[in-house]
Formats: sequence, C-alpha cells, structure tokens
Amino acid sequence: MSALVVVGAQWGDEGKGKVVDLYAPYADLVVRYAGGANAGHTLVVGGKKQILHLIPSGILHEQTRCIVGQGTVIDPAVFLKEIETLNERGVGTKGRLLVSQRAHVVLPHHKLIDELREKKSGGAIGTTKRGIGPCYEDKIARRGVRIGDLLDVDRLRTKLDANLECWRPVAEDLGGTLPSADDIATRYAELGEALRAYIGDAGAVIRASIEADEKILLEGAQGTMLDIDNGTYPFVTSSNAVAGGACAGAGIGPTHIRSAIGIAKAYTTRVGGGPFPTELQDETGQKLRDAGAEYGSTTGRPRRCGWLDLVALRHAVAVNGLNELAITKLDVLSVVPKLEVCVAYELDGERIAYPPYERLEEVQPIYEALEGWNEDLTACRTRDDLPPAAQRYLARIEQEVGCRVGVVSVGPDRQDTADLRDPFS
Ligand code: IMP
Repeated sequence: MSALVVVGAQWGDEGKGKVVDLYAPYADLVVRYAGGANAGHTLVVGGKKQILHLIPSGILHEQTRCIVGQGTVIDPAVFLKEIETLNERGVGTKGRLLVSQRAHVVLPHHKLIDELREKKSGGAIGTTKRGIGPCYEDKIARRGVRIGDLLDVDRLRTKLDANLECWRPVAEDLGGTLPSADDIATRYAELGEALRAYIGDAGAVIRASIEADEKILLEGAQGTMLDIDNGTYPFVTSSNAVAGGACAGAGIGPTHIRSAIGIAKAYTTRVGGGPFPTELQDETGQKLRDAGAEYGSTTGRPRRCGWLDLVALRHAVAVNGLNELAITKLDVLSVVPKLEVCVAYELDGERIAYPPYERLEEVQPIYEALEGWNEDLTACRTRDDLPPAAQRYLARIEQEVGCRVGVVSVGPDRQDTADLRDPFS
C-alpha cells in the first residue's frame, strides 16, 4: 500500500506544485483529486514559463503518469490548451494522461454566474471567477454534465437543456443572459472529441495501480482552510480540499492511503475575502509580499500576507491526520529581522488552541516572538545547514502543532530544497 496524499495546510498557494514536482520522480502515478482551474502552478517548461491549472506538475517527469480524478471540475478548453502547450514544448501527454469520465464539466454559464455574483454588492467571496462554485452546485444537485457526457452528443444536449432551465431565472435575476444550448452543445462536443483519447475510467486505473503495488501521489488543490467542510465557511472553495477528499475524489478507500503530508508556507497568505487573524496590513506584510512574489498565479491578485498561524496549522494537522509537514518559502523570512508566530487565539478572554466555529474574525492572535536569521538560505541542503535561528523556527513549529517537518524549501528552484528524500520509503 503506497498511496500518499499531499495537501495544502493553509489557505492555498503553499507551494504544493513544487513539492509534487520534487516527489513525482519517486511516483508511478500522480492523481489530482479536487478543485479545478481555480488552482495554478507556475512551471518553467522548455525555458518558457507555463501555468498549469488542471494537469498535475508530475507530467514533466517522463516516467510518471498523471490522472485528473472524478472529484475535480474540468474546463475542457483550459485542459486542451494545457495539453497543446505541453506538447509544443516537447512534453508528451498521450498514454500518460487521463481524465476521469466522472469529473464534472465547467460550462460557460458557470463562469458567467460566478462573475455576476461576485459583482453583486454584498455577495462577493473573492472567488477566482472560474465557475467552480456553480459547477459543484450542479454536481450536488444531480444535474451536472460530466466529462463522459461530452462523448455522446444526444445525451449532452438533453442534459444541457435541463441544466440551462435551472440556471435561467438565476441568470436573469443577476442581469445576465445564458448562452444557447445549441452553441454550448456544438462547442463542447468538439472539445470532447479533441479530448477523447484522454477520457476514461480513472478510478479503475488508480485501483489497478494500487493492486499492482505502484506508488501513487494524490495531489490536493487549494488548502485546508478553504475546504468546504473544514475551512472558513462561507469564505471557502466548493470542494473537499483536505486529505479525506482524496478518497472520494480519486475513487479509493482510506485504507489505501499510507500517509498524508501537509504543505505549509513559513508564513501565511490568503487570496480573496474572509477572516485572516494573523494578517499584516503594514510594511512587514508588504515585505513578505515582495520577497515571496505573493501574487496569484490564476488571477494575478496580490495575496494578503501575515505571520505563521500555528492555530490554523494545528487544525490542519488534526483534520488531515498529517504525518509530516513540508515547509516552503523559509528563505522569504530572511528579509524580516524579528519574527512572530501565532501560538494561540484569545476569544472572550480565553486562550484557545483551535479555530472557533464561525467566530474567526473576532479572535485576537497571541504571538510569540522568535529571532530572525537575516541570511541567505538558498544553498542549504539539510536542516543542519540552516542558521540556528531558522532551525529553532522549524523546531517551534513541530513542537506547537505536534507534527514533524520533513522537506524544507529554501528557494524557488528544484535544487533549493533541504532534506529531500523518497516520500515512499
Ligand atoms: P473559488 O474556488 O474560485 O470558488 O474561490 C473561493 C475562494 O477560494 C476564494 O477566496 C479564492 O480566492 C480561493 N481560492 C480558490 N482557489 C485558490 C487557490 O488555488 N489558491 C488560493 N486561493 C484559492
């Protein structure tokens, strides 16, 4: 049994892409299990920058096969474009990439409704406007269009008619007009044909891979605090980003998963609205944003930045059952001379160790000051190479959240990594 889950332990953008890229050479199969084109990971392929929203970054490693599982929502035009761009840059995808026929399709009106809702005063969550919420709404309401439906024009048309009927009053209420079923059916059937070779029974392939004792990396999207059930509802995404989501999203059981690795930045960022107790709306926050290039890879929005929130991280360790943490962007903290970490919250005069239900915007963070290191970390390859203050920073995290730190990222490049080891060993 050698499936392991890599999950975001904060509000997304923790650097999962880099960690998956580091672990992929050890894996036979990389499976993305939730979310859609709201996620984004910037890669350098063939000397050119490329952002992958749907295809796991494992695709860059020739021996690794990639699956986009049934728990995801797919914009087929984005998926096709990613395949074409990878192919143009010499990365082969045929026979190595599969999308589940059960994954739901993001339709043009999902994006329209998402955008119109965001524009409406009082209704904004700060979504990525990629149609994610409305698509998952259709899935849960049992009226969604799935990737497999794109391969059967009659079935697609029947489903689209019923689907559009449900959204018509919503769109009109928001002042929008739905596209015609004819137009969508024609375009999406074409996209289905273009993707035919990539569509299949992904769950069966993953289960066969488990039977064959292959090494499987299950890749989450977004992060624990954006999870629909475990996050800062309603300021969340619409899927189960947590490790538990990997079972339903890939089509496997919990007993197939050996371990869960949480990815956390050495500080905290968040994009979009919602509570963020350790946010720094000052010069230090701006310093972190500049040094960490904290601008969204999907929307370009500046990310909100703040101190490391160990209360949120403790929650992530608990709800994901994490065995290990990977800490990213430790090098960014070199620009800040004196550090603080949030070890608890105060609410109603009491000290609390876990995020409270529905009252996160009311808490006061309780900070502990830690010494900075003001040194370049990019050449460090083991934890022992780090300056003593950086080692103490990591040790403090482990102590507070009860989870050991494994790999540590000390720069954007692959080689800027300390303590990398085979995660399946
Ligand atoms: P949605 O997933 O586009 O519906 O957006 C819901 C919330 O999740 C918003 O606050 C987004 O900014 C946030 N979000 C969605 N995807 C990501 C991501 O990949 N990184 C960080 N935040 C995200």
